[in-house]
Amino acid sequence: MYLQTLQLQQFRNYKQQQVEFAAPKTILVGNNAQGKSNLLEAIELLATLRSHRHVRDRDLILQGEDTAQIRACVKRQTGISSLSLTLRRNGRRTVTLNSENLRRQLDFLGVLNAVQFSSLDLELVRGLPEIRRHWLDSLLIQLEPIYTHILQHYNQLLRQRNAFLKQNLEAHLRSTSAPSELAIWNAQLASAGTRVMRRRQRAIQRLAPIAKAWHASISGSTETLQVKYAPNVPLEENQPEQIQQAFLTKIQQRAIAELRQGTTLVGPHRDEVELTINNTPARQYGSQGQQRTLVLALKLAELQLIEEVIGEQPLLLLDDVLAELDISRQNQLLEAIQDRFQTLITTTHLGSFDSQWLNSSQILYVNHGEIFESHPSYSHQK
Ligand SMILES: Nc1ncnc2c1ncn2[C@@H]1O[C@H](COP(=O)(O)OP(=O)(O)O)[C@@H](O)[C@H]1O
Ligand SMILES: [Mg+2]
Repeated sequence: MYLQTLQLQQFRNYKQQQVEFAAPKTILVGNNAQGKSNLLEAIELLATLRSHRHVRDRDLILQGEDTAQIRACVKRQTGISSLSLTLRRNGRRTVTLNSENLRRQLDFLGVLNAVQFSSLDLELVRGLPEIRRHWLDSLLIQLEPIYTHILQHYNQLLRQRNAFLKQNLEAHLRSTSAPSELAIWNAQLASAGTRVMRRRQRAIQRLAPIAKAWHASISGSTETLQVKYAPNVPLEENQPEQIQQAFLTKIQQRAIAELRQGTTLVGPHRDEVELTINNTPARQYGSQGQQRTLVLALKLAELQLIEEVIGEQPLLLLDDVLAELDISRQNQLLEAIQDRFQTLITTTHLGSFDSQWLNSSQILYVNHGEIFESHPSYSHQK
């Protein structure tokens, strides 16, 4: 697929900006805090309706304004589609496809696919489990857009059950609350949670061998990467009813702790994705360079998996990472993407790029929320 144009209106630090992508590779150059990552974030929002920066919609809107809009034209094998996403301070969103309002988000998802790789992704190895869950969920939303509803439904039940636990804490301690109401919440949570976990398990089962192969190729086969889903509720059985039963059993085991803490302790919001190299947890294993290799393998696996499932190549968004990779890993990445994947690259300086590569790329300059085709002169600066 190919992103032809992108329009940003009052999005982050962009007032009004149109960008035309004229080559399979575009390099966005600019100093820090000019709007490079913001532009990639806009594309990420179109692809997943989420931002890895975990912000409220009001933070995405140009300060002082009430709405923001992101529009794009995407060329796919089936034709050209236009997408728009409108964000409002109150959090209500509108999505359109070919100028038609869509009621369901899932009809919007899946038109544009993108894999984002930023320097923050080292956190996938070193960070908290929630970072890996968020990563896996964003991938799943692209592989199976229906997952966005499944996940939202689960999160809504989780919030409601947590509120119930808090409200009823005292009543429970005095044994005056109705246990039947909690049983209803439990059953609903187990059913929705099982759907989340089964999809997560399937995605990791497909991703793991691809990531392992990329990792072997990048590291020269000296290391073995294992990506393993570690669900909070055991999934040994594969019938949904049996998993729900295991879920309910675990809830019962944790009942006292849940009441004491007033929060839900069982379910996929506590899942983990384990990354190990040669059977050692990756966060303990080796240097930063080795951890980068791991993340690179994961990203290449995401690209390949989306391509396999969707049947078209997703966009690749490289935010500040290329310069951080050593030459051999850079080359490995560039070889893998060639001209097959439309790639947007941000950087603060062009110096670290191969000249042959620069010649075949479109170069855009980002300056204070504006984009220029040639180096902005001082007259352009505010
Ligand atoms: N809602 C907003 N309104 C106005 N400016 C914003 C908003 N959100 C972020 N910014 C500005 O965007 C800039 C950061 O942009 P970013 O794309 O992350 O920079 P970089 O070019 O380093 O990737 C900062 O100057 C920040 O103040
Ligand atoms: Mg940035």
